[in-house]
Parts: sequence; structure tokens; C-alpha cells
Amino acid sequence: MDRLRLGVNIDHVATVRNARGTAFPDPVRAALIAEAAGADGITAHLREDRRHISDADIARLSESLTRPLNLEMAATPEMQAIALRHRPHAVCLVPERREERTTEGGLDVLAQEDALARFVAPLREAGARVSLFVAADLRQIEAAARTGAAVVEIHTGAYCDAAHEGREAEAEAELARIRDAAARAHALGLEVHAGHGLTYDTVAPVAAIPELRELNIGHFLIGEAIMQGLAPAIAEMRRRMDAARAP
Ligand code: PXP
Repeated sequence: MDRLRLGVNIDHVATVRNARGTAFPDPVRAALIAEAAGADGITAHLREDRRHISDADIARLSESLTRPLNLEMAATPEMQAIALRHRPHAVCLVPERREERTTEGGLDVLAQEDALARFVAPLREAGARVSLFVAADLRQIEAAARTGAAVVEIHTGAYCDAAHEGREAEAEAELARIRDAAARAHALGLEVHAGHGLTYDTVAPVAAIPELRELNIGHFLIGEAIMQGLAPAIAEMRRRMDAARAP
């Protein structure tokens, strides 16, 4: 099987930064570390309320990255203008408002098919690989193919929630839906990605789906980075404190 690309989402580095209103931790520095560690791309979600990633972060990421930037955004005129200005390698359209989402949390493509088709066209013409974030629902996948988007990203959140809460039969049923959705999307000529909520415990069955080309993972990785990075960070602070008081 082809190697599966890993897109690392650095949004929650910015969440921690913004909790203090400081310049650190810097999501761009995190993105460069992710690249050096083997990330195949960097994903950042510029939300309408700017609760984590800022416009300046997107500008700095666009200048600094050596790997592709995948800009997640709502399908609004403001976001379209930003995407056309920065021309990221990829744009992933995600729902932010309740009326834009399906019950499973992906974009309700069926309800806004024509509007999405009109939204996707200029982004495609500008050279962006446009992706729609959709639930593992065949009708949504088929509608996504009709919009002209080149990619669908299948929402893995329902599967991950069921798996982490020990609802095993439900997790298996969600996995089966993801497999069917990936197969259908691939048959329609779409490139197939997946993401949301993936962890060490839930990634393997998703990574084994042959039609998938890319996973986008953020929250768990940033949390794990805190856990795995806390000990060396404390040791370095200890060293500097001790060095300052050395005779
Ligand atoms: N893919 C999409 C489209 C997303 O919106 C997100 C969350 O921003 C992710 C993947 C990553 O999800 P998580 O942070 O739960 O790993």
C-alpha cells in the first residue's frame, strides 16, 4: 500500500498561546518542528472568530513552511479572499455554524451543493487542492463529487468518540461507514483523506483503509507533545536556574 501522508494540525498550540495573549508558544515554530519530525504537511484552521490561529499566523506559515499548507476554513467570502491572497497548497472547507453541518458534524454538502460548487471554482482556478470535510455518508460524498472539489476528508469523530467511550459495536459500525465512504469517494475519482479525534488507540484501523491518502491529526498530538515534552522542559529550566546561582 502507498505511504499515507500525515498532516499535522497546529491549531491548539495557538489555543495555549492565546490563553495568555503572549507570543508563545508559537504555532509556526511548532509547524517547523512538525516538518522536521516528518509531517508531510501542516494544517491550520483560521476560524471566523480567530479563537486560535490568527491571520498573522497564516501569513507566517505561508512564508516559512517547506511542506504544503492545508488551510481549513469556513466557506465564507472573507475566508475565500484570504485563501486567494495566500494561495495555500490546499483548502479544506469545514462547517462552523450549526446550519452548515450534518448530524455527524461534517459539511452538509447536500443542503448547499450549488453554493459550494460556486465557492470551490475560483479556489481551484487559483491552484488550490480543495477538500470538503464530510461525514461518512454516501449521499454527502456523492454531493461533494458534484461540487468540483478534488478531495473529501472523511470525519472520523463519531468513530473515535465511540471507541474511546468503549461503545465497541458502535465504533465498528462507524468504521464500516468510513470504509464504505472511502471506497465510494475513491470510485467517484475523489482523493480521500480522513481526520478528527484520532489518537494512538484509534488510528490503526483508519490508517489501514486502502483508499485513504492522508490523515490530519492535531488535538491528540499537541496534547501528547505536552506530556512527552514536559520532563525535558522542566530539566532545562532547572539547569538555567542552577547555572544562574553557580559560584
Ligand atoms: N480535519 C479537519 C477537517 C478538522 O477540522 C480537524 C480539527 O480542526 C482535524 C482534521 C483534526 O482533528 P483533531 O484536532 O481532533 O486531531
